[in-house]
Amino acid sequence: MQASRADFPEGFLFGVATSAYQIEGHAFGGAGPTHWDSFAATPGNVVRAENGERACDHYHRFEEDLDLISGLGADVYRFSTSWARVLPDGTGQPNHEGLDFYDRLVDGMLARGIRPAATLYHWELPQPLADKGGWRNADMPNWFADFTQTVMSRIGDRVWSAAPINEPWCVGWLSHFDGAHAPGLRDIRATARAMHHVLKSHGAAIEVMRGLGMKNLGAVCNFEWAAPASDDPADMAATARYDAIYNRFFLGGLFKGEYPPEVLEGLEPHLPKGWQDDFALIGTPLDWIGVNYYTRKRIRAGDGPWPAYAEAETVLPLTQMGWEIYPDGLRDFLLRTAREYSGDLPIYVTENGMANPDLPDRPDTERIDYLDAHLSAVREAIAGGAPVSGYFVWSLMDNYEWSLGYEKRFGLVHVDFETLARTPKASYEALARWWRAQAS
Ligand code: FCB
Repeated sequence: MQASRADFPEGFLFGVATSAYQIEGHAFGGAGPTHWDSFAATPGNVVRAENGERACDHYHRFEEDLDLISGLGADVYRFSTSWARVLPDGTGQPNHEGLDFYDRLVDGMLARGIRPAATLYHWELPQPLADKGGWRNADMPNWFADFTQTVMSRIGDRVWSAAPINEPWCVGWLSHFDGAHAPGLRDIRATARAMHHVLKSHGAAIEVMRGLGMKNLGAVCNFEWAAPASDDPADMAATARYDAIYNRFFLGGLFKGEYPPEVLEGLEPHLPKGWQDDFALIGTPLDWIGVNYYTRKRIRAGDGPWPAYAEAETVLPLTQMGWEIYPDGLRDFLLRTAREYSGDLPIYVTENGMANPDLPDRPDTERIDYLDAHLSAVREAIAGGAPVSGYFVWSLMDNYEWSLGYEKRFGLVHVDFETLARTPKASYEALARWWRAQAS
């Protein structure tokens, strides 16, 4: 790899990210059913109907996995807590085994000198809450606040940072409009409510954590650069709608107390009554903002009602996901986030990485090149004035890639899903060579 720690500002943190359902093994330790289990059990939703029952069995192998993180020289580890593991019914009685697990996990990080970066929710909604309408239900902020209180009363004294909800766009739009993630709805009204309730729940969780005296609280949003397929005004307008829904809606709520007009055009009639009054809660001050970035989309005008956009054909080299490799988008999002939304707040790249097929002799050079190019983009953004303070690779190890099952491999560490053996890839070794030097 080209980079070294000296190329980044002093104190810049490097880390890896995972999430609970994707690695832990949901069948273990008394976790309750989630909407992902139901989604995956419904034919056609997930490749080979795979689910997170066993995943990487991180639940039993977390010490080995923390050793891998420490061997990499990572300063920080972004993990998530499973709501259904902590509160199997979604509310009420906690599962002590679940709380004990996160307690041991956090202590295991601290013992190795790794900073714990917690995300409260990375998509495994307890099924009993999904039965009540899940993110559509106006009670979600209260349920989520209770979950936050339960988890953070236990580990909040030792985590280095915390964020409530991973990728509001995925929780809202992808899951309720596109139907591609649990609960698999394609319903504009459900979408509007979910998108708004996700932000309210975020605010409620931040308030709970402030009440517990926690510091270094942020939000993690995902972005996809939207490039018009042509300069035809219809394609340009469609691209602006795509960009507003994906990239500007959540930041607008968090930092400006408003939603973009291109989104209100479609969603306003479906937002819950009194939505305008919720921005004080939604915009409760943060200590940092997280940017997850993988790719861009080329957009053209589409048929039918709002949002009337369509994806145009790809033109750049692709990852195993079929995603274009476009590092400039990361630079431009970092610059735009600082300039238009978060100002001087530290920005962390909370996810970035690529999937590659599992071929035994593959040298893994594509992943090394991908990471190198995106780390250069981060340096360009810093040079351009964006206060970027850290970078996390998605992911530590191959894991359950949601509706795409176990086939798409994002890991720096290879996982054999038969034996569960972990084997560091060349990208792990390449990063370790310079991350291990003077870990901060
Ligand atoms: C992000 C998710 C993460 C993983 C990567 C590839 O959207 O946060 O769980 O699926 O994409």
